[in-house]
Amino acid sequence: SPRKDFAGVSVLVTAGPTWEFIDPVRFISNPSSGKMGFALARTAWYRGADVTLVSGPVSLPTPHGITYCPVKSAMDMYKAVIEKMDFAKIIIKSAAVSDYRAASIEMEKMKREGKDTLTLNLVQNPDIAAEVGARKSPDQILVGFAAESSHLVEHAKEKMLRKNLDLIVANDITATDAGFAVDTNRVKIIKKAGDWHELVGTKEEVAWGVLNTVSEMCQKEENR
Ligand code: C5P
Repeated sequence: SPRKDFAGVSVLVTAGPTWEFIDPVRFISNPSSGKMGFALARTAWYRGADVTLVSGPVSLPTPHGITYCPVKSAMDMYKAVIEKMDFAKIIIKSAAVSDYRAASIEMEKMKREGKDTLTLNLVQNPDIAAEVGARKSPDQILVGFAAESSHLVEHAKEKMLRKNLDLIVANDITATDAGFAVDTNRVKIIKKAGDWHELVGTKEEVAWGVLNTVSEMCQKEENR
């Protein structure tokens, strides 16, 4: 029978890409499939958690038993996460949030006639993880992800400190068996103290491993 180490624990997971519309039919996004976040949500539920999943647009079946909150843009995701964060003991930010959005969304479909080049004006989206990090209470555990192409551990650690995360899962995006839209992942799980270990496997297996570390952190807290 499965471990129920998350029984009674509320977990908020974000997943997927965000869509930043520039006109009614076009948007800026990234290749995130949502698979890692959905695997985390399913696995946490399986281990007994009350799970809320805030996800950008993906083509995955909605997991059974969880509260599903679909969003489109980073601003939508930001509002949903800030609204729901107080109820969560554990917040896992695996979404690939667009860093920028259009400064204004065209009301009409843009025409290409007479325009050889097009300049888009973009403004920064809020950093949701950093905002949660600034607002969270000491007993909330915030887990972030970091997709890096160089100095993996170093850059991820710096990100963890800057955003006030409690744990970071670092992904080498140059590896072919890891990252966007594939079923496997190769990650380094880095704790605040700096110690890290590697996890390789399906996204389900990686989700299981990430939750093992989170579970240990919860137990240490209880034993304080
Ligand atoms: O800074 P970077 O985007 O590499 O950090 C990745 C982490 O920050 C992920 O956990 C991601 O979900 C989160 N993030 C966020 N809001 C943003 C950008 C990233 O929550 N606007």
